[in-house]
Amino acid sequence: MPRVQLTSLHDTQLFAQGLALGLRGGDVIAFSGPIGSGKTTLIRSLTTALTGDDVASSPSFLLWQRYEGRIPVNHLDLYRIENQADLPELGLHEAFDSSSVTLVEWPEQAPTLLPAHTVYLKLQGAGDEPRHLELGYSLHEHSDHPGA
Ligand SMILES: Nc1ncnc2c1ncn2[C@@H]1O[C@H](COP(=O)(O)OP(=O)(O)OP(=O)(O)O)[C@@H](O)[C@H]1O
Ligand SMILES: [Mg+2]
Repeated sequence: MPRVQLTSLHDTQLFAQGLALGLRGGDVIAFSGPIGSGKTTLIRSLTTALTGDDVASSPSFLLWQRYEGRIPVNHLDLYRIENQADLPELGLHEAFDSSSVTLVEWPEQAPTLLPAHTVYLKLQGAGDEPRHLELGYSLHEHSDHPGA
């Protein structure tokens, strides 16, 4: 699998700016990877690039965060989903609309929620290490969640 090395936060920002240029409403990207591997950081950099607003200080505990802007973004963080049977009442499927880009953290927690055209990426690395982004990751081969 191709891998991109993100040596610093600045690298993550530059990568996000480049990736954002290729995204349009309706696109869905899922970010796998262990705790602290930089999923939220990359998603926020992408969101800033897509919306045109700096979202660095937005809350991080929400299941669904919506950002308006040039291209609207939905950020889903599925870490706390314990039971897939809860999904319909949570209404998260409404995040996947054709005018927004939807960025999903911890997709393994609700694989049935994600549309077929989702692009899967996986981050690795922690602490002061460089991060590595694996492209073309398949959700069906691995799972990193401690409870899985
Ligand atoms: N490319 C990078 N180089 C160095 N540090 C980074 C990089 N990307 C993220 N970090 C740092 O890693 C830490 C964890 O980042 P982040 O919260 O984005 O991880 P996460 O994968 O979303 O974790 P969680 O699974 O808990 O949600 C932060 O302190 C962040 O600044
Ligand atoms: Mg996170």
